[in-house]
Amino acid sequence: MGKATSHFVCQECGTIFPKWAGKCDACGKWNTLVEEEIVSAEGPKSVSLKAGHHLNFVTLKGTSEQTFRLKSQITELDRVCGGGLVPGSVILVGGDPGIGKSTLLLQATAKLAEVVNKKENHTRCVYISGEESIDQIRLRAHRLGLTNAHIDLASSMNVRDIITSLDGPETADIVVIDSIQTMYVDTLDSAPGTVGQVRAAGHELIRMAKRKGFVLFLVGHVTKEGTLAGPRVLEHMVDTVLYFEGDRGHHFRILRAVKNRFGATDEIGVFEMTGTGLSEVPNPSALFLAERRGNISGSCVYAGIEGSRPMLVEIQALIAPSTGTAPRRAVVGWDSNRLSMLIAVLEARCGLTLGNKDIFLNVAGGLKITEPAADMAVATALISSLSQIPVPADMVVFGEIGLSGETRAVAQMDLRLKEADKLGFKKALMPPARTKKTERRTTIHIKEEGHLKGIVDLFIGGHNGNY
Ligand code: TYD
Ligand code: MG
Repeated sequence: MGKATSHFVCQECGTIFPKWAGKCDACGKWNTLVEEEIVSAEGPKSVSLKAGHHLNFVTLKGTSEQTFRLKSQITELDRVCGGGLVPGSVILVGGDPGIGKSTLLLQATAKLAEVVNKKENHTRCVYISGEESIDQIRLRAHRLGLTNAHIDLASSMNVRDIITSLDGPETADIVVIDSIQTMYVDTLDSAPGTVGQVRAAGHELIRMAKRKGFVLFLVGHVTKEGTLAGPRVLEHMVDTVLYFEGDRGHHFRILRAVKNRFGATDEIGVFEMTGTGLSEVPNPSALFLAERRGNISGSCVYAGIEGSRPMLVEIQALIAPSTGTAPRRAVVGWDSNRLSMLIAVLEARCGLTLGNKDIFLNVAGGLKITEPAADMAVATALISSLSQIPVPADMVVFGEIGLSGETRAVAQMDLRLKEADKLGFKKALMPPARTKKTERRTTIHIKEEGHLKGIVDLFIGGHNGNY
């Protein structure tokens, strides 16, 4: 039997199968297997051992040049990238269609074009769109007031053409490819957007970026489930993965680093979408709390940390008698398993009855919280809604809750308190801290609570949520 020349690749998860099947065994999706040519996976057949060069081994100690970073002057973007863009690095920007990726990158390149680069020249920015025509991009630039920006614009989908254009003597400093799903390599038969094409196009462009030393931005679309559609493979190939997220019903957008070889992950940048493009939000807490109405039960302000920044957000809970056989539990912006755990702890350790109630939880403004430190704030919102007693309007809450109902200290408590202080909050409900009270530099009145029962007593025990 001859050697197989093609195999089948799942377009969702990238798993390779020798035979076609209706369903991918790895991710369970239907109709996702597509035939692709096998491109010599093992590389050249036999490498003569003599052919290589000796590696030059060195010690960990030594002087290395400080990484040069191009600053886009969009502080929120620079911070997420670890303090600026590193030449030769590849940044994948993922996000839902219409969230504002093209707008962000056009604004960023316009700013970058004004910056002086390492070679003391003006930064050359190239923007290649496979999605929109030149006219459409010009229209957007007009709306953003960027018609005079020095950006080299082109509309193309062919990777061969792009590589040829960028290979000239006048190299670019920044290249934006919008989007990687529209690009194709003409040696492959599969359609643009398939795993094979995305991988091949990504590979070619990334190699070019490393060779020429320019910053490459790849735009990628995200599926409904929240993963980069098809090109999961790309996440491994690039240096930095940024997600641009937000709710189209809300005007603010969050740029989140999920992988970064040149900086911290979990760093976020906050933007607001306005009629004339994206504007930076230097003080997100004020924005997230702007629409808060005081004196309503079920609302609690959580003092969280996103990346290196403290951020205050409002958590809203609603508990209503259930009419159906199975009570409803709906969560927006938080982990639903975590909510189930908290409900169980409230029932088993604090004697509350929630089995016959519908429970809804919402993080106001559309922010997604992943920290377990939000437990106490969520529990407080739930207890407040159940007792119909409002949480004091000038109180913030944070802390983790364990399965026995005990509260646990979380990271960066002082930073959280400081931010709350800055925004005018007077009280904080938190777990017992390890730092001495005298070492704290806030004027906030702190209540340390060791068990969830204590919070229940604050509301149901006749204290009206006060201490
Ligand atoms: P876009 O950058 O095209 O999104 P993506 O590239 O992620 O698909 O953004 C499109 C949306 O942004 C569109 O719904 C209109 C809105 N928008 C504004 O609100 N203000 C603006 O100044 C611009 C340019 C777009
Ligand atoms: Mg776009």
